[in-house]
Amino acid sequence: MEKGVRATFDVAVVGATGLVGEAMLTILAERRFPVGRIHALASARSAGQQIRVGETELTVGDLAEFDFSQVQLALFSAGGAVSGEYAPRAAAAGCVVIDNTSRFRYDDDIPLVVPEVNASEIEGVRARGIIANPNCSTIQLVVVLKPIYDRVGIERVNVATYQSVSGAGRRALEALKTQTAAVLAGATLVSDGAPPHAANVVPHIDVFEDNGYTREEMKIVRETRKIMGDPGMRVNATAARVPVWFGHSEAVHIETRERISAREARALLSEAPGVRVVDDMPLPYPTALTDAAGADPVFVGRIREDISHERGLDMWVVADNVRKGGALNSVQVAEIWAERYSELYSRVR
Ligand SMILES: NC(=O)c1ccc[n+]([C@@H]2O[C@H](COP(=O)([O-])OP(=O)(O)OC[C@H]3O[C@@H](n4cnc5c(N)ncnc54)[C@H](OP(=O)(O)O)[C@@H]3O)[C@@H](O)[C@H]2O)c1
Repeated sequence: MEKGVRATFDVAVVGATGLVGEAMLTILAERRFPVGRIHALASARSAGQQIRVGETELTVGDLAEFDFSQVQLALFSAGGAVSGEYAPRAAAAGCVVIDNTSRFRYDDDIPLVVPEVNASEIEGVRARGIIANPNCSTIQLVVVLKPIYDRVGIERVNVATYQSVSGAGRRALEALKTQTAAVLAGATLVSDGAPPHAANVVPHIDVFEDNGYTREEMKIVRETRKIMGDPGMRVNATAARVPVWFGHSEAVHIETRERISAREARALLSEAPGVRVVDDMPLPYPTALTDAAGADPVFVGRIREDISHERGLDMWVVADNVRKGGALNSVQVAEIWAERYSELYSRVR
């Protein structure tokens, strides 16, 4: 094969038995990514298991045994510790890594990419062979901020999230189902270290940092600044877990540099890539269950001028955290990398 030109790419999906990994396999097939051989990898616990993607059965391989020189691309979603150990090894073997965990997101020489916002950053892959995928809550936020930022500037962002339990992985989702059944059967749930998710709203995702914010909240702050290319941007977040299965919702309040009316913002967002405006009667809003779950766009509604601030705008933003918040964004990044493969060849055999 001619150097730098490929018709297909051999791909490894690390964390293939998890919610994001499973969605990656599905989305690669749905979007007809030019996959040659595909390797589904997880821990030794699930090695040998069969998983089905459409008509294809894949046997799960053990990550610890895998030789990354067999593939050109690896999509990682098996937690930060796993990425910390294996992603640099995969990159050293000549394979490009798109990593869904927070492990490399804040490294200056690792691009953090949302294609609708900063696709050109992908060329930063040349430095270490790794591209980071942002946190699910950040992705849906920046897709909506970007067109407004480019038109009128944004001075401050204040966001409250209502995050589904699938964001905490398959085991948490199964626990929610069990807890919900117990509540419906009349049981009283008690804290088991952390408060239960069923019939509850929990303002605590990931660990607390020294400043009183949770790490999930600070991920939104740090990642929004990095992706928007505005290190001084004022961002404030409160992140809560709600007993929803799939789809994160966000109440977003922004203060723009120049005034923008709700009408102008609605028109602008209607044209924006990856955004679907749902802001009309009878229901001027999207929801996690009825719009976002299983869908690709970032939905936005309740677009209105803030009555407490002359340059304030309020919005309700909803997206599927497993798809656009994780797997879909990674595959979109992979598509751009694949298109530019010959140019970005230097990282690859
Ligand atoms: N869920 C979301 O909405 C979302 C969105 C964006 C990013 N993320 C990030 O993506 C990652 C995965 O999330 P998830 O929701 O898919 O979690 P999950 O459903 O709990 O799946 C975790 C996956 O990681 C694998 N794994 C765990 N330890 C491993 C090890 N030592 N070696 C190899 N594989 C190992 C598991 O394999 P076994 O079956 O062998 O245990 C499973 O395939 C996390 O870092 C998460 O923060 C999640």
